Amino acid sequence: MRFSQTIALVTGAGSGIGKATALRLASEGAKVILVGRTKGKLEDTANEINRSVRIPLAEVFPADVTDAEDVRELAEYVEEQYGDLHVLINNAGGSSNTRILTMSEQEWEYVQNVNLKSVFLVSKALGKIMSEAAKREERNRAIVNVASLSGHQAGAEIPHYSAAKAGVINFTRSLALELSPFGIRVNSVSPGFAKTALTEQGLQNDKFVRAIQRNTALKRVGRPDEIANVIVFAASSEASYMTGSDLLVDGGWLIK
Ligand SMILES: NC(=O)c1ccc[n+]([C@@H]2O[C@H](COP(=O)([O-])OP(=O)(O)OC[C@H]3O[C@@H](n4cnc5c(N)ncnc54)[C@H](OP(=O)(O)O)[C@@H]3O)[C@@H](O)[C@H]2O)c1
Repeated sequence: MRFSQTIALVTGAGSGIGKATALRLASEGAKVILVGRTKGKLEDTANEINRSVRIPLAEVFPADVTDAEDVRELAEYVEEQYGDLHVLINNAGGSSNTRILTMSEQEWEYVQNVNLKSVFLVSKALGKIMSEAAKREERNRAIVNVASLSGHQAGAEIPHYSAAKAGVINFTRSLALELSPFGIRVNSVSPGFAKTALTEQGLQNDKFVRAIQRNTALKRVGRPDEIANVIVFAASSEASYMTGSDLLVDGGWLIK
């Protein structure tokens, strides 16, 4: 129960890695605020968490994390309801397959917004609550940003996503420096290939799956909970001396 007495917020908690992270945090006692655009998906995650506990641990807050106004309302809610936040997981993200020479400006902006601007907006608004609270009470407080293997090695046909995720890794370092005086740790986790809605289409292509197996030391695609376990570790007090780091969870892709 590493997260009892802990208030955590997970963006993109309605599916995939975000959902697995929210389930894991709640299973260890955290109260979790689930954020995403689709209320129904968030409610499904919340029901899964709450059906096994007497006092509900999960609540939903539908919001678009690329929209400054939505993020302002989210921060206002957290401030009014709890006056504090201990764990923030910036997980929402997405991409499309495209090439630089044919990419529209809108496609570029969409991918920068959902993967990088969202991390800035949410960290700014909720980091303020976390740092104010840290002046009143010293305890484990952490932010974990979900980056990607593509932030280390540019992926085929995802130049916009590769650029945004490299940005997330370096933004994490800047934020870690800025929030260190408050004892707030900031790290990123870079998943390799995990089976989620994001990769569903690609993973239906046998050639793509064989390429992943060939290029991954562990010879398989990862599961969302295998990524979530590392995110949750980085958020926990077990990682108390780690800040500004990126944790690569790629099944050994980069060593091949
Ligand atoms: N799966 C992989 O292999 C892999 C590899 C490397 C990195 N990642 C990263 O892992 C993170 C989670 O992805 P996933 O694989 O779990 O995919 P996923 O199942 O598609 O999850 C992404 C979540 O983000 C939410 N989201 C998207 N845009 C949003 C917005 N503007 N505002 C609020 N929420 C938004 C989506 O819900 P709504 O559409 O309902 O808002 C969705 O639940 C992403 O940052 C992704 O880039 C994944």
